[in-house]
Order: sequence, then C-alpha cells, then structure tokens
Amino acid sequence: MPKPERHVFVCTQQRPPGHPRPSCGANHGSFSLYAALSMELDQRGLFQKVQVTSTGCMGPCHRGPSVLVYPEGVMYAGMQESDLPAFIEEHLVGGKPVASLLMPQEDWG
Ligand code: FES
Repeated sequence: MPKPERHVFVCTQQRPPGHPRPSCGANHGSFSLYAALSMELDQRGLFQKVQVTSTGCMGPCHRGPSVLVYPEGVMYAGMQESDLPAFIEEHLVGGKPVASLLMPQEDWG
C-alpha cells in the first residue's frame, strides 16, 4: 500500500440516549458523512492518495461531526455531506483547508 498524502479521521463515536454529551455518531449523522466521503473518494479514484478512518471522540462533540485531517492537523466542525465537494476539491486535492468549515479557534480553548 502506498503512503497516502492525507489521512482523514471522521468521528463516529456513539453515546447512549440521555448521555450528557452529544456524540457525532448518535447526534450529528457522522456515519452517513463517513460513508459519503468514502464513496466519493472511491469514485474519484483518490483512495490511494487519501486514507479515511472512522474514529472515536476527538473532543468538540457539540460541534460534530468532527473531521481531522493530517498532515495539516486541522479540525473541521459540523461538516455536512453538501460540504464534501469543496472539502475534497479544495483541501484533499488542492491542499488548502476550507477556512469556512474549520472549527472556530475559540473552541480549542
Ligand atoms: S463525539 Fe465526536 S468529537 Fe466527541
């Protein structure tokens, strides 16, 4: 397997109903986002360049789905399936993170 240029982590953490913290998998639809991203990358022939991994909680649960991209180490918050074309074209292909979709700096507080 060739080394991918980028690695995308999509949080699919699930917490039970009634849990005090929301979760990307149970409350923010991250499973369908993960599936749509994987399918889109496959259809575009980008699977050798971009690795996608579902993962557990990465912290900003209230702003999910959370998506982390390396090697840049940038976090996206609240990404929707409708954001995928811009995310793929501008960041995963073009190398420039989509500023309007990034998690606000103050949320790292
Ligand atoms: S549950 Fe997804 S970031 Fe916490």
